[in-house]
This record gives sequence, structure tokens and C-alpha cells, in this order.
Amino acid sequence: MTALAWEERIQRGAHPVVYPAIRGLRRLGPVVRVPGIGVVVSDAATAREVLLDTDHFSKVGPGAPSELWTPVLGPSVLLNMEGSDHARLRRSLAGLFTPRAVRELVAVSVPEVLAGLPERLLAGERVDVVAETATTAGTVICAMTGLPPTDTAVGEAMTAAQSIVGLVRLHRRSLTPSQVRHARAVLARLSAPALDAYRSADPSTVPGRMRELGLSEEEAMGAVGAFVLTGTETIQSFVPRLVALAADTGWLDRLLAADPSTTEGAALRGRVVEEALRITAPTPVMLRSVRAPATVGGVRVRAGDRIVIATISCCRDAGPFDPAAPVDAAVRHLWFGAGPHFCLGMPLALAQVDAVLDALRPVADAGRAVAVVHRSVARGVLIPAYRSLVVEAA
Ligand code: HEM
Repeated sequence: MTALAWEERIQRGAHPVVYPAIRGLRRLGPVVRVPGIGVVVSDAATAREVLLDTDHFSKVGPGAPSELWTPVLGPSVLLNMEGSDHARLRRSLAGLFTPRAVRELVAVSVPEVLAGLPERLLAGERVDVVAETATTAGTVICAMTGLPPTDTAVGEAMTAAQSIVGLVRLHRRSLTPSQVRHARAVLARLSAPALDAYRSADPSTVPGRMRELGLSEEEAMGAVGAFVLTGTETIQSFVPRLVALAADTGWLDRLLAADPSTTEGAALRGRVVEEALRITAPTPVMLRSVRAPATVGGVRVRAGDRIVIATISCCRDAGPFDPAAPVDAAVRHLWFGAGPHFCLGMPLALAQVDAVLDALRPVADAGRAVAVVHRSVARGVLIPAYRSLVVEAA
């Protein structure tokens, strides 16, 4: 089966009805109004215009992320804020995502988790990249919340994040009262150590750093919740899909052999990762609420309408997976958004991807290839993903 055929399976496993429907809309035009869903944008340049135009389009309002997340996380967690309050909170949080800060966070939490991975592969063991990534992402959540990363804590952190994100459906604009109760209870359990870490103001913990950066207790707990929701399933989805896509297109050997400490190695790794992000677009849609009458790609919209940016169509339609091809400027980084809400966690995401690739590199250094021997797709999840991706050293 081809690389794209596997990607189609993953998308359909997650969204058997909505995914083909959204992809089918492209035949009707780049911007199409769909009753019950919203005004769907499938074109990268138009999507970027919407994301940059905060006078007309907002993450707060009917059909926007605020309707989903404010009842769970409270009113001030970046992804449901706009304007000067949003800009101020982002500035305060910036110190957590400098290249150095994320390198340290990942260096402290992740290497132990991935230690031994190449030896296991070289000794003939088969390894599930999905399980390894889940442990990596769960360990990072533990570091964020200030929990010691025991196996139980890591597993519980992942289950908690998945059980909240999995409540969201595109055709429902908000969570039901019982879903809100469930999500709040799960997050409260997860954030309890974060609250202790914040109160004890220990700067070696992320919540302690947040206090140092001037965040109030409420803002810090909201940020922890937002990071867990935005930064867990995306990584869990992306890393195995990167490995599979690179394997299916004949790029995996070069990707794993690339030495990121050299200019060429870093450039090659960067291009393959970017191209895989473009093809997979782990956040398949972005939502906005219309604040004031406007026109989107020739379609008139009014206040209260919902805009559904089909990131997956905008990114995927720029061509087949080809790390050697030049990047289309309209599409570049759109998988991380654009404008004031551009993914705050991008450096952390890329550092986690690097950690997994670094852990696999010794297999290439030993002159062996990493081959996919078995895989299955996840069903009924919000963020399309593999359920398992088993590899071996060939
Ligand atoms: C491959 C992994 C990831 C992808 C593809 C991704 C994608 C995105 C996208 C598309 C947005 C913008 C959504 C919009 O404008 O509606 C976003 C925002 C955000 N992301 Fe990521 N993300 C990833 C990983 C992470 C990680 C690891 C974190 C960790 C903390 C994170 C934290 C955030 C936050 C806090 C926001 C909200 C920013 C704001 O509203 O100002 N993301 N992400």
C-alpha cells in the first residue's frame, strides 16, 4: 500500500464520515458553506487571510474553540482568548518555549525513556513506535505538571489527555454538561501536582517557572491544561506517521542517517519533518467564529457564523510528499497555524520529534535500516493516528 493510502486509512479510521465529506467539498470550491458544520475553507491562501484577520475572525464566540474549552479550562487559556490579554499571556509564557528551555525540558525528561531503544532494535527486538512516542509525550506532560514520571503517572497522563481530547466532535459545537464534568475532574486530578509545584515556587518545575514568569495561579493552571490538550495527541499522532511516511516513500534511511549537528544533516532532517507535517497536518481543522460581516473567498459570512479551516486540505493539496521540492509560501508552517495563535509549542514539538529520531539514529549508524513490519490505525479518535506501528532493524 502507498504512503498516501495509509494516510487515507488513518484519516478515515478517525473520521469515517466527516473526513471524506470535507475532502469532497474541494470539488465544489475553495470556500463552501455546509449547513450544521460551518463555512469550510480548503485553500491555503484564504485560510491564512482568515487566521491573520482578527478584526473579523476570532477564537472566542459561537462555534469557536472558546465554546468547547472555556467551560473546562476557564476563560484565560490562550486558545480561547484574543487581543491584548492574549498577547500579554503569550509574552509571559514565551520563556518556557525558548530553544534552550525546551531542549532542557526534553533533555531532562525524555532520554531515559528512549534509552536502550537502539540496542533493543539491534538485538532483534520489534518495537512499537506508537508506544514509545506515548511514553515520550506522557513523560513531557509529567514534567509540565511537576509529577515524577513513574510508569503509572506517564500512562495516566496520556489516558487523561486522550479522554478529554476524544470528547470533541466537529458536528457538536460544545461539550455536554456531563462531558464538561468528566473533563474538569480529569484535569483537576492531573493538575493537582502542578498546583503544589506552583505554590512551592520551585523554578526547576514548569509551574514554578510560570510563577517566576509572573503568571497568576489561575493562568498557570489554565496553561498547564492547555498544553496537555494541545501538545499530547498531536505528538502521539505525528511521530509514528513521520516514521511510516518516510519509510513508505524511501526517505527513512536518509532521515535517520542525517546528523543534525552538521548543516546538511540538520537541513535534510528539517525538510523531511516539515514535509511530513504538511502531509499529515496533525491538527486537521482550525475553528474561528465570525465577529463582523466579511467575505471569505467570495462567500459572504455574518457575525456568529463558524469558519472551519480544513488545514488538511490546505496543506495536503500542495503536492505529494517530496522533501526535495521547494516549499509553497502560502502553505509553509500552516500546519502550526498562522498569526497570533500560531502554535506556541512548536519548539517543544520539534524537540520531541528530534529526541525520537536521535534515539533511532544509532541503528542507521550501525549500517542497518529501520523497517515497518506491522501497523494498525486508531479508530474513533479526534486526531488521526496509528494505533500501533511496529518496526525492526532490517
Ligand atoms: C506536531 C505537533 C503540533 C501541531 C501540528 C500543532 C498545531 C497547532 C496549531 C495548528 C495551532 C493553532 C490553532 C489555531 O489557530 O486555531 C496550535 C496552537 C497551540 N499549540 Fe500546538 N501543535 C503541536 C504541538 C504542540 C505542543 C507540543 C504544544 C505544547 C505545549 C502545543 C501548544 C500549543 C498552544 C498552547 C497553542 C495555542 C496558542 C494560542 O492560542 O495562542 N502544541 N498548535
